[in-house]
Amino acid sequence: KFNITVAGGGSTFTPGIILMLLDHLEDFPIDTIKLYDNDGERQQTIADACEILLNERTPGVKLLASTDPKTAFENVDFVMAHIRVGKYAMREQDEKIPLKHGVVGQETCGPGGLSYGMRSITGVLEIVDYMEKYSPEAWMLNYSNPAAIVAEATRKLRPNSKILNICDMPIGIEELMATNIGLESRKEMVVKYYGLNHFGWWTDIRDKSGKDLMPSIIKHVEKFGYSTDTGSEMEQEASWNDTFKKARDVQALDKDTLPNTYLKYYFFPDYVVEHSNKDYTRANEVMAGREKFVFGECKSIIEKGTAEGTELTIDEHASYIVDLARAIAFNTKERMLMIVENKGAISNFEPTAMVEIPCLVGSEGPEPLSVGEIPRFQKSLMEQQVGVEKLTVEAYEEQSYQKLWQALTLSRTVPSASVAKDILDDLIEANKGYWPEL
Ligand code: G6P
Repeated sequence: KFNITVAGGGSTFTPGIILMLLDHLEDFPIDTIKLYDNDGERQQTIADACEILLNERTPGVKLLASTDPKTAFENVDFVMAHIRVGKYAMREQDEKIPLKHGVVGQETCGPGGLSYGMRSITGVLEIVDYMEKYSPEAWMLNYSNPAAIVAEATRKLRPNSKILNICDMPIGIEELMATNIGLESRKEMVVKYYGLNHFGWWTDIRDKSGKDLMPSIIKHVEKFGYSTDTGSEMEQEASWNDTFKKARDVQALDKDTLPNTYLKYYFFPDYVVEHSNKDYTRANEVMAGREKFVFGECKSIIEKGTAEGTELTIDEHASYIVDLARAIAFNTKERMLMIVENKGAISNFEPTAMVEIPCLVGSEGPEPLSVGEIPRFQKSLMEQQVGVEKLTVEAYEEQSYQKLWQALTLSRTVPSASVAKDILDDLIEANKGYWPEL
C-alpha cells in the first residue's frame, strides 16, 4: 500500500482527487493520504470534510493534514503537487493586468503565465526539496501550473530530482475527441502528439487495431471545434465551450493536424482580448463558482457531520495521475503524454527544450518516443515560445529585469517591447513578496 502526499491540500481540486483515489483503490492501494499546504486554515476545511467522507466510504484509508513539512513529507511514496502560489487572488491579477494593456489575460499563456511562473518556481522547488529531504525515494507527480515554466525550472534547477511533469489539457481534449466520434473513452485511442505544454499538435490518432481516426475527428473539428454541447462538465461552462469551439479556427492553420486549444491565445490574441471582460475574468468565475461550491460543500459536510447527499464528485478526469503513479510503481510502460527534456526526440529541435510528447512510463521514469522532424511553421512557433520559457527561468535565477522584459517581448501575445515593459512594471508591483527581487 502506498502513502501519498497531496501538496496544495487546500486546492479546490483536492476533494475530487481524493474521491478519485478512493475509487481506484483496487488498482492503486493506499495506506495514508497526507495533505500539505502553507495555508493551514484553508486546508483544514478540506481535510475535515474529506475525513468524514473517507470514514464513511473507505474506513481503511487514513487521512492526515499538516502544515509541517516533516510530518507531511516523511515516509511517502508519491507527492502529487498542484500548488497555486498566491491563490485565486493573484490569478486575478495575472489575468487583469495584461488585459488593462490590451493583451491576453490568461493564467498560463502570455504575461499571466510568466507572472504565475515567477511565483510558482519558488513553491515547486520548495516541495521538491522537502520531498528529497524527508522521502528521498519518492517521486513527485507535478501538475502545478504554469507547467511549461515549472518544468523548465525543475530541469534547470533540480536536474537530478525525481519529478514527472504532466498536464491534463491534452487528456481533456482527447476525452472530447473520443466522445465526438462515438468512442467510450480516450483510452481506445493511440495518439501521436508533439509540442510544448499548452502549445502542441496531434499528428496521428488510431484505434487499437490501427484504424486511422484522424479523418473523422478532423471532420467534426472543421464543423464544431472540439465542442459537442452535451459533454463534460468543463464544456458546460461558457468560457471553456468558447475555447473548444475556437479549435476550428486554430485547426484551419494546419489541416493535417489537430491543435491544443490554447494555441488560440497565440494565433488569435486580438480575438481573445475582444472577447474578454477586463473587469471579470476566469479567476472571478472560478472564485464565484468552483471555489465557493467546494468550500460550501465541505463546510456543510462538517456541520452535518456526514457526507451523505454531498454534491462533491469524483474527478475521474484526474485518473491519469493514478495511471502515472501505477506506471512508476508497477512498471506498466503505459504510453502517456509527458513534459520531458527533448534530447533529440524531436530531431530538428533544441535538445534542452521541455517538450510534450508521448513516453512509455515505467519504474525508471518516462522513456520518450521518437517524434522525428517537425514542419517549419510549428518549429518556428515553438522556438519562439521556448525562448519565452527559458528566459523566464533565467530571469528568475539571475534576478534579471532585462531577461524578463525580453521574455515578455518575445511572447506572441505581446505587441511591442514598450507594452511588454508597461505590463512588466505593473506585474512587479503586484507580485511584491512573491517574486525574487529583480
Ligand atoms: C486546464 C489546464 C490547466 C488549467 C485549468 C484551469 O485543466 O490544463 O492547466 O489550470 O484548465 O481551469 P480553470 O477551471 O481553473 O479555469
